[in-house]
Order: sequence, then structure tokens, then C-alpha cells
Amino acid sequence: MSGTTEYSKICHISELKEGTGKRFFINETEIAVFKIKERIFAVSNICPHQKTASMFEGEVENGFVICPFHGWKFNLETGNTPSGGNGLKTYDVKIENDFVFVKVVPAELNW
Ligand code: FES
Repeated sequence: MSGTTEYSKICHISELKEGTGKRFFINETEIAVFKIKERIFAVSNICPHQKTASMFEGEVENGFVICPFHGWKFNLETGNTPSGGNGLKTYDVKIENDFVFVKVVPAELNW
């Protein structure tokens, strides 16, 4: 199976602002992308607490993104909560020629 599980180009790296999230859709999947000190992180945009599409609006603090609704925190690298529990899904990111690519596996093929 190839093609559908490859990286998708989402934007030019200059479109991402340091420390501020941006929302993208890859097929049916909604992701929040952050640039922190020249590193790019892609996580699910859906907060697992109340399924709000809010993570891209969250503030970033010490490597964690904070949901703007009730303050749940998730590690941008692992997606985990501060106590190490499962939180947000994370996605692989790569940069090519200053464009950002994110690898999203469609849920129905994720088996
Ligand atoms: S909806 Fe995100 S913390 Fe409640």
C-alpha cells in the first residue's frame, strides 16, 4: 500500500510562526502544527478531553501545548500528558526545500 500513507505537503516553513499553532487538514484528519525553536511538531488538533478542535489555539510552554478550554497539557514531541499518559496523536514531520510535510495514515488503513 503506497501513496495514501506518504507525507503530504502542508505549507512553506515561513508560514509557521514561532510558538504559534496553525491548523491543517490532511484528507479527513485535522492537525495542529507548531514551530518551536526551529523544530516542527505535528499533533492531532482534537483535544481528547471534550473532542474540541482547539489544539492549534493552545499556548506552548516548556514543550507542552495547553488546550485553551480547560488547560490540559500535552507534550508536543510524544503527545503524552505531563504524567506520561496517552494524550494527543503525533505525526512524523519532514522538511524538504523549506516545505513542511506531515505523514498521516488514514484511520481506515491504520491496521
Ligand atoms: S477540551 Fe481541551 S482541556 Fe477540555
